[in-house]
Amino acid sequence: MKKDLLSIADLDRKEIEHLIEQARCIKREGASSLLSGKTLALLFEKPSLRTRVSFELAMYQLGGHCIYLSPEEVGLGKREPAADIARVLSRYVDVIAARTFSQETLHILAAHSSVPVINALSDLEHPCQALSDLLTISEKKGKLSGLTLAFISDGNNVANSLLLSACLTGMNFHFASPPGYEVKKEVLNQGKKFAALSGSQIQLTNNPHEAARGADIVYTDVWVSMGQEAEAEKRSFVFSSYQVNSKLLSLAKRDALFMHPLPAHHGQEISAGLLDDPRSVVFDQAENRLHLQKALLARILLC
Ligand code: CP
Ligand code: NVA
Repeated sequence: MKKDLLSIADLDRKEIEHLIEQARCIKREGASSLLSGKTLALLFEKPSLRTRVSFELAMYQLGGHCIYLSPEEVGLGKREPAADIARVLSRYVDVIAARTFSQETLHILAAHSSVPVINALSDLEHPCQALSDLLTISEKKGKLSGLTLAFISDGNNVANSLLLSACLTGMNFHFASPPGYEVKKEVLNQGKKFAALSGSQIQLTNNPHEAARGADIVYTDVWVSMGQEAEAEKRSFVFSSYQVNSKLLSLAKRDALFMHPLPAHHGQEISAGLLDDPRSVVFDQAENRLHLQKALLARILLC
């Protein structure tokens, strides 16, 4: 059976821990020709820096090939229906990583593709980011279970995938957003089911100070995700008291990490200069996209 990764919930705790272990091993020792002869198609409806470059390099460094298909080129759902694109690409490539506006498009692609489909970010989730972040946290803290991650921003794709990741791996998840910008109910309910098994605690609040207090990791993301540009003005007003800055970080543990998936908006969701704070691990996060996705591609294509 082909292995799609459309949501973090497609993995269980064991598989996540194994992926992190594999990524650490590949990062340490390399794996030069592991994917020789294999081809990945990157099918993107939205812009990208990290996801595109890290997937392209991952294939190149593992001996495979990558083909980038830009929004203008393919016209997903406009020039051609998603189902037909999936059937055509399946005849050429071994795996598809797609960045789409809607999660539904990913499901259509996966349903009509005979090769695995990876979610490279949708409106609902960003599983490759969350898995890479778990790698970064485990490197910095030596464990995942029992740590507390405070996510202070919008209940967006990154928040949803981190909530599920935390609940699967025994991390506590604190979440603070303005009222009306919480994580999706279905994602929360799924997270609660995982938490009941792993022992994770979920705390939801509208108070960023409450969320950050005593946290091991303070995590934020943009207030306006790709596709929400029309709401930019309203959101910058609604989120204005949710900025992550030194004052907020000082409520977390002394050895807390500051995390952000990037791109960041300096002076909005983070204070200017925060990326250079000694607690910031944002560029390790960006680097680990490469290592984690190598392990993910190997798992999907070779196992
Ligand atoms: N973090 C992340 O996914 O970055 P890009 O949007 O640049 O790929
Ligand atoms: N929430 C952001 C993440 C970017 C990596 C977005 O969807 O634009």
